[in-house]
Amino acid sequence: MEYEHILVERDGPVGVITLNRPRVLNALSPELIAELGHALDRLDADPGVGAAVLTGGEKVFAAGADIADMAERTAVDQLLRDQTGRWQAVTAFTKPLVAAVNGYALGGGCELALMCDLIVAGDTARFGQPEINLGIIPGAGGTQRWPRTVGKYVAMEINLLGQPIDARRAYRLGLVNRVVPAEVTVAVAVDLARQLAARAPLALRLAKEAVNRALETPLSEGLAAERKSFYFLFATEDQKEGMRAFLEKRRPEFKGR
Ligand code: HXC
Repeated sequence: MEYEHILVERDGPVGVITLNRPRVLNALSPELIAELGHALDRLDADPGVGAAVLTGGEKVFAAGADIADMAERTAVDQLLRDQTGRWQAVTAFTKPLVAAVNGYALGGGCELALMCDLIVAGDTARFGQPEINLGIIPGAGGTQRWPRTVGKYVAMEINLLGQPIDARRAYRLGLVNRVVPAEVTVAVAVDLARQLAARAPLALRLAKEAVNRALETPLSEGLAAERKSFYFLFATEDQKEGMRAFLEKRRPEFKGR
């Protein structure tokens, strides 16, 4: 399917989604978010896809939700259209999702990056929540995912002061997995996604689910859920294949069954 606000390509087992509204720094309009959700659902359903990369390309990730779209909205408009509820397709994606961030990842753009599973940052990347400067607060996870990632005090600075941080600081804070020259951000993210796509798909899916659950549940519940998923994986062909391949000193061939 052709999209208007994003590009979707395949690089072997990796789906690559590029936000594509360069004229407005990839501002995240409701139409773009709807297309993104649609594309992610399709990649999730495609057994040939093992992981995905989400990027804004070489210059900018996304400068936030579309301010022109929001400026004259009323509270009732916002409630009825549930602006940020539509973003749930991103967190519903069951395969590994790697963000490749160059330039600004601000407001909703930053929140979108924080919804991904790994983040590769170009040395030009800037992460921030400038909503405070517009008289609002983040609405797609910024006040919740920052403290869970970097702790309370940095999260307060980011959300209350509204000044972005650069890629190096983001790396030191544990917000990003790699910092690379901006020209290779997407290539590094695709390479990482390709490595992930070579892993056993069901194990990947349950590992992602378990790590995400760690941010939401008390330790005892998280451990119990992990244990059940661990036992469940012994019902898969991939577990037999993985362990036999190890013992036979060969590479495993995972099927996602
Ligand atoms: C709509 C935007 C936009 C945005 C930039 N543009 N960000 N349009 N929504 N979020 C448009 C500009 O109006 C301009 O259009 C063009 O993109 C280029 O931007 P400039 O400002 O000229 O570029 P520059 O001087 O390089 O400054 C870059 C910038 C600045 C620092 C990123 O654009 C900026 O501050 N943008 C807003 C960032 C922000 O506040 N984001 C949070 C949004 S609220 P024209 O037509 O003039 O060329 C949010 C809430 C999320 O995200 C809630 C949950 C979804």
